[in-house]
Amino acid sequence: MTDQVTPGIIRKLWAGEAEIFKDHLLRLDVESRRFRFGSAVSAEFIERYAARAFRTGAIVHGYFVDGTLRAAAELYPMGDVLPGEAEAAFSVEREFQNHGLGTLLLERVILAARNRGIRTLCLNCLAQNRRMQQIARKFDADLSFDTDEVMAELKAPFPTALSLAREAAADAQGVAGAMLQAHRLATGRLFDMFMPANDERALEATGS
Ligand SMILES: CC(C)(COP(=O)(O)OP(=O)(O)OC[C@H]1O[C@@H](n2cnc3c(N)ncnc32)[C@H](O)[C@@H]1OP(=O)(O)O)[C@@H](O)C(=O)NCCC(=O)NCCS
Repeated sequence: MTDQVTPGIIRKLWAGEAEIFKDHLLRLDVESRRFRFGSAVSAEFIERYAARAFRTGAIVHGYFVDGTLRAAAELYPMGDVLPGEAEAAFSVEREFQNHGLGTLLLERVILAARNRGIRTLCLNCLAQNRRMQQIARKFDADLSFDTDEVMAELKAPFPTALSLAREAAADAQGVAGAMLQAHRLATGRLFDMFMPANDERALEATGS
């Protein structure tokens, strides 16, 4: 069983956020990076990859803690006109793994795919990646095993007015969360600027 999800916000990334997406991917530890990309990849590869992701029409959901992107789920529709298939990929930084984030993000990805008429979702992962396979199983994915890789294929249901409303509500909640987080960070910085640090105040109070 996973522990409870740590507090944070999930929202779609904006096209101008390739840089923070790159920083998140670069923070993945060696094993997670290998699991995410299917082999060991260099920092230069990740830099190019992150810069290209938004240009290919990907929908990227991110999980933010205190304004820092800690997990991401990428959805790549295949084909330009009314794509019926898409590929998805997930990355959760080590200290946030096994807290239910991968599951939550896959839920969002399925909702986004569904609302775009994408019926078939493919997840490619290494055969040793039991965690990813376990998540896919929770959504009734068909898993086909090769020696090194597993292809998980799951079907998204047809869109409905309710599924569209659910995505719109999640988007609105994500934007509101981002604004609150930005506000908290900004007021925190102002507070730090105008209020002396605790130890300075303690020194003033003791008159030393
Ligand atoms: C794979 C990954 C996306 C999963 O995200 P996560 O937030 O860690 O996963 P969750 O906490 O939502 O769920 C993990 C599930 O795997 C199970 N699990 C954990 N370790 C396991 C193992 N060794 N064998 C089988 N199941 C395992 C957990 O019990 C949980 O299932 P449950 O909710 O039914 O109890 C994340 O670990 C990650 O980013 N890994 C590195 C990159 C990667 O592998 N990407 C996927 C390829 S695209």
